Amino acid sequence: MITSRRGFLRLLGAGSTAGMAGHWSMVAASRVTAFEPSRQDDGFVRLNSNENAYGPSPRVKELIRSSGGSANRYPLRECRWLLERIAGVNHANPEQVLLGCGSTEILRMAAFAFLGGGKQLIQASPTFEAIEHYARSAGSEVISVRLTPAFAHDLDGMLAHAGASTTLVYICNPNNPTASLTPRKDIERFIGNLPASTFVIIDEAYHHYANQSGTYASFIDRPLDDERVIVTRTFSKVYGLAGLRLGYAVASPKVISQMQKFATEANINAIVTQAAAAALDDVDATDDFIQRNTNDRQEFFNQAMGRAVKPIDSHANFVMMNTFHPAEEVIEHFRKNNILIGHRSPPLDTHIRISLGGPEEMRSFWRAWDALPYPKHSMQH
Ligand SMILES: Cc1ncc(COP(=O)(O)O)c(C=O)c1O
Repeated sequence: MITSRRGFLRLLGAGSTAGMAGHWSMVAASRVTAFEPSRQDDGFVRLNSNENAYGPSPRVKELIRSSGGSANRYPLRECRWLLERIAGVNHANPEQVLLGCGSTEILRMAAFAFLGGGKQLIQASPTFEAIEHYARSAGSEVISVRLTPAFAHDLDGMLAHAGASTTLVYICNPNNPTASLTPRKDIERFIGNLPASTFVIIDEAYHHYANQSGTYASFIDRPLDDERVIVTRTFSKVYGLAGLRLGYAVASPKVISQMQKFATEANINAIVTQAAAAALDDVDATDDFIQRNTNDRQEFFNQAMGRAVKPIDSHANFVMMNTFHPAEEVIEHFRKNNILIGHRSPPLDTHIRISLGGPEEMRSFWRAWDALPYPKHSMQH
């Protein structure tokens, strides 16, 4: 069984897709009419990939159903049209936008455009792992700097490592897996102090779940006048389209054309060009998803507090908390209870990451939590 997207990538790498194809086409066929959430295929409650437990919106689902007829065509014009639409929404020019097969593809393009032998990536630890994976594939060294005790990026620590060979820095804000924020003003100062040849990715995958405040402001909504900044976003989270694979970058035209050289030809599928545009139009649904997430997150904290457990303050659609017990054993306990939670996040070896699910899914989570065979008093901090 594949329990994570990392495992899925590994499986693809091992060339095992042929054997999976039969199983997946059966799964897909059973869903054609129902669009049931995928957790029901194997009985697992999926609290492991920070997806939108409710999405996509009914209007977007309807569009997905009706757009299958165009699947025989390469969606070249539709892609251009979507790119212009995304540029418009982000108050950018089309030359400043690059589409990817998920923002994961954008991260791969950035790694191959800006890294390579003798070049160095600096990132936080823990953070979202895709860029590290691609940096190493490109032959780069990766420097990982542990988050501060407040779970912000240790920007002074990262700056201390930045030198002539540092061509890329990755900042995930809000950060995955900790759901924590790094203050906007600190990031601005940090970028200003980096070597002139260092590019910076700001990964805003969880942007919609973070309240705009003095601490957080998107680098798309409030751009810096700095050609080295690349902001990434995804349709996999608030828009509920993880399965259709669409992400994008906003950056200077020069940076976009450098990254574009590493894009897969025709990387955007026909269905998502329609679905993404509908998702952007469906502003009420987006607001509703954000509100539901706020409620679900609050309920998670209420449940945690009721058990004298204090998770890390969350600005995303997932929560991380310390169990004071080896994370792999806790993860295995949940798996035995048919609940998938996030994988281990070293160096936070006793923390677990839980993606927020619907109310029933979260009741299952807390039932399994209450059945953990470890002394609960050691989990109270
Ligand atoms: C911080 C972050 N960035 C990027 C991604 C990749 O998302 P996708 O490739 O589905 O757009 C994820 C997925 O979980 C993520 O957590």
